[in-house]
Amino acid sequence: MAKVHRMVGQGLAAIATEGEAPYAADVVNKIKAIYPGTFDPLTNGHLDLIARGAKIVDHLVVGVLSNAQKHPLFTVPERVEMIEQATQGIGNVSVATFDGLLVDFAQRELAQAVLRGIRAISDYEYEVQMAMMNRRLAPGLETIFMMPHEKYSYVSSRLVKEVFRLGGAVDGLVPDLVLERLKARVASEKH
Ligand code: PNS
Repeated sequence: MAKVHRMVGQGLAAIATEGEAPYAADVVNKIKAIYPGTFDPLTNGHLDLIARGAKIVDHLVVGVLSNAQKHPLFTVPERVEMIEQATQGIGNVSVATFDGLLVDFAQRELAQAVLRGIRAISDYEYEVQMAMMNRRLAPGLETIFMMPHEKYSYVSSRLVKEVFRLGGAVDGLVPDLVLERLKARVASEKH
């Protein structure tokens, strides 16, 4: 068995990249990952991805970007509260806010990975650009891509807000607690 490990190790030396974490077959890591986003608001697609991510990492931090948009529908504390409520049944998920570079936040959190969702091929190009830029900035930080359930493949926070504001139904696309907040917020906007 030890011999096999040595052979694997020698082979891996050839693909080692400076600055990146070395692969070690016999080291068991505790993996902490960041799932970053604006989450304005949290959708069932986000929630689906959080649940999938939490199954494969030891701890998942949902990172809410706090300086993203000039006119968000929900404040950052409101978004954090909604995500906390929606994920309270998942023991290894926590919620935090960040501004500035994602890689700096990941470093402060001592996270080894960033989790991102790919709903369709149209997400791929932007996501790869971000992953490669983040790798350039922080070579040891890995990006993990996962796919939400296909029933959420067209769901985005932007479309949910637009459809809801124009009177369309978004039931089933966001958690019920988000739907209630949407109703209250849009009703107050009209007054
Ligand atoms: O919900 P979104 O808009 O898909 O999330 C985008 C997010 C927050 C992941 C991205 O904008 C981000 O990481 N912003 C932080 C600033 C940063 O690090 N920018 C360089 C990314 S390569």
